[in-house]
Amino acid sequence: MTARIIDGKKIAAEIREGLKAKVSGLSEKDRPGLAVVLVGDDPASAVYVRQKEKACQEIGVKSFMHRLPQDAPQGEILALIDRLNRSDEVHGILVQLPLPGGIETRDVITAISPEKDVDGFHPVNIGSLWSGEDAVEPCTPKGIMTLIDSTEAEIKGLEAVVIGRSNIVGKPVAAMLLRRHCTVTICHSRTKDLAKVACRGDILIAAIGRPNFVTGDMIKPGAIVIDVGINRAGGKLTGDVDFEAAARKASFITPVPGGVGPMTIATLMQNTLKLAGI
Ligand code: GUN
Repeated sequence: MTARIIDGKKIAAEIREGLKAKVSGLSEKDRPGLAVVLVGDDPASAVYVRQKEKACQEIGVKSFMHRLPQDAPQGEILALIDRLNRSDEVHGILVQLPLPGGIETRDVITAISPEKDVDGFHPVNIGSLWSGEDAVEPCTPKGIMTLIDSTEAEIKGLEAVVIGRSNIVGKPVAAMLLRRHCTVTICHSRTKDLAKVACRGDILIAAIGRPNFVTGDMIKPGAIVIDVGINRAGGKLTGDVDFEAAARKASFITPVPGGVGPMTIATLMQNTLKLAGI
């Protein structure tokens, strides 16, 4: 079998076009607003934040950028979030992670009003997601579900195996697959005989952050393979999946780059409009 490639770049561009069309009909005062808080000088975070700002401009979302120094006290971050929570112009608030050492990430995230938590990281939204209630869904996992749905596969009842248990990807995507009636297994670094478990996956999500960790023998023939890895090795971007080997067995596969990556920001924009009631 040679897998069909799921073109995340194209799907993300279509989503962004659709959102732009929705926003273009709005008056200035009705446009959605996204506040992005970047603390410190992590170079990767700076790149991500610029990409988010650019997407806002392209779609017509008002962006409110707040760049704080590496040594900003936690109280200053919390005071800023408090102001953003009360601003009528701001519908979504995103604090770029990771935060510098010494800042309690949990305290910062829980300070965001759950109604403006565009990342879906607030414990209230995490609880809603796991209890099957309407929730703001984290961007990368929601983007992954959009990619899976683009295959038009009926996923109800399928075995889904998620490799990686992070709060940002592994756990929320597992909750979303469960909501869609998949039988879900989460694997991680301590899982015994991970290859054997991975082989069960009609849907296999790799989110471990180790280049080419998923080899061809871990793929069930006909599986949908979603590679969330973004590993920089020798200047080259590599996923968590050995693409060539996996593509020989899978029915669908996402490339790196151009698969999951572009979906995160497109979904962030979807969430911003949703929180603005658009
Ligand atoms: N850092 C890495 N991924 C994310 C994300 O999805 N949201 C935020 N806020 N920070 C991140």
